Amino acid sequence: MTLLEQIGMRVLRSTDPEVAHGLALKSLNLGLGPKAGPFTTPRLATTVAGMSLPNPVGLAAGFDKNATALHALAKCGFGFVEVGAITPRPQPGNPKPRLFRLTEDQAAINRFGFNNEGMEAAATRLAARPRGGIIGLNLGANKDSEDRAADFARVLARCGAHLDFATVNVSSPNTEKLRDLQGKDALAALLAGVIETNAGLAKPLPIFLKIAPDLTHEELDDVAEVANASGIAGIIATNTTLSRDGLRSVHKDEKGGLSGQPVFEKSTRLLARLSGLTTIPIIGVGGVGSAEQAYQKIRAGASAVQLYTALVYGGISLADDIARGLDALLARDGFANVAEAVGTGRGDWT
Ligand code: FNR
Repeated sequence: MTLLEQIGMRVLRSTDPEVAHGLALKSLNLGLGPKAGPFTTPRLATTVAGMSLPNPVGLAAGFDKNATALHALAKCGFGFVEVGAITPRPQPGNPKPRLFRLTEDQAAINRFGFNNEGMEAAATRLAARPRGGIIGLNLGANKDSEDRAADFARVLARCGAHLDFATVNVSSPNTEKLRDLQGKDALAALLAGVIETNAGLAKPLPIFLKIAPDLTHEELDDVAEVANASGIAGIIATNTTLSRDGLRSVHKDEKGGLSGQPVFEKSTRLLARLSGLTTIPIIGVGGVGSAEQAYQKIRAGASAVQLYTALVYGGISLADDIARGLDALLARDGFANVAEAVGTGRGDWT
């Protein structure tokens, strides 16, 4: 972390978390973030679901919900960036406060509830996206929608022309009953609708499915079965958890989804198990805060990783640190590239 970033982070950490987040996005847009672009080497460059990534360290959904910082984020070191979640119509989300730092646990709890400016605003910004770089959109459903399953396809139809990938997010815990869409029949129908819409795009995209870490083994079996039959290109594992095991921070009992360090083990175990159930590439998310943790996710079966909460504690330059550290770890263990390492440590997690 640079000195400027250290000072900025100290100020942000003493500010209300949601206000601090808005300030962080503003400062990125003012050019105060990293500018070097993604670090890459032949070892780090990798192809996931047909997308060529300069490195496998991505930004997870929720950081730039409204796609307001696409140009700045393209320079921050991430190998790929996911923005959103975006729903068809704008919606305010849940009442504030709805984001809590759990500093002692290096974690966060959020119950935003898909606050976003809607697909028209997002499509306008995405149309002016930087060329080059890999940008995906997290698709969501309106809280008061009469047909939530159709919402995902509507956002894809509106924004798809400007994207490199899109993610069906049925795993946010903050929209009541959304996660019921992970059930076998509902999920199969939902994915069929999205895949059909995708096929109608001038350039169909890799479609990802993002799942919760709280699925039981049986539920995960069902998700894998549906995913394998659906034609999706990847699975993002995982979203935030409802579990509160082992937390120490004062905010530990706030309602919402828990992210950051406490999710690492749970999400990595699920990812490892899932990788034994499918050959679809998996993107590992949940508690990645170091190169070692990114490497562990890859060795557990992830083809790439994403992170969000660790940035709150380590600053945006963490993306670059992790990519460089990951390159060194791959070299140390004699892997010629990321793909060679994928799944080589699966047995440690199952
Ligand atoms: C999220 N996450 C999230 N995920 C998603 O699919 N759509 C979303 O809109 C959001 N929004 C969101 C907001 C906030 C404040 C947080 C902290 C997280 C979940 C995120 O993408 C990721 O899956 C989890 O946070 C786990 O990764 P980390 O944060 O432990 O690296």
